[in-house]
Amino acid sequence: MRKIDIKTTIFEYESLEEFSDEFQVLINEAKNIVKNAYAPYSKFNVGAAVLLDNGKIITGTNQENAAYPSGLCAERVAMFYANSQYPNVPVKALAVCVFTNDHYSESPIPPCGACRQVILETEMRFEKPIQIILAGNKKYTLIEDAKSLLPLHFDDDFFERE
Ligand code: THU
Repeated sequence: MRKIDIKTTIFEYESLEEFSDEFQVLINEAKNIVKNAYAPYSKFNVGAAVLLDNGKIITGTNQENAAYPSGLCAERVAMFYANSQYPNVPVKALAVCVFTNDHYSESPIPPCGACRQVILETEMRFEKPIQIILAGNKKYTLIEDAKSLLPLHFDDDFFERE
């Protein structure tokens, strides 16, 4: 038996001004779109903004449903829409924020496992790291690529190997 530690690296930011202008705009887009979330059941409103390599920004929000599993997270709404509209343009970055109980979350909220898997697929598809910014009101986390968010991930390499 061998114990293997898997390390991952994240970056913490204390203010919006620490980011490049491009990322500040992206974070603000995620914050602005949160009002369009349809989350009557959880009241957990999530906004996501995808920055494409061509400079375009695509936004999305979580969309819930009375049949709960039919809903979809903001990250996947935005990623799938971006990939549908621009199937040949790599994704450069994704910013996510949460608004609940009448305020933006103070700390950064990490994406669920299913969203990580979808972000990873896009990263691998375009062979370009996707920077992920989790925007809290007082603190921000930046992760340099989807792989760092999903250690021990599954991908299509396993189809060929097995
Ligand atoms: N949600 C997201 O939009 N993104 C995540 O990564 C986590 C969860 C949504 C799904 C659901 O509408 C609500 O937040 C509560 O789970």
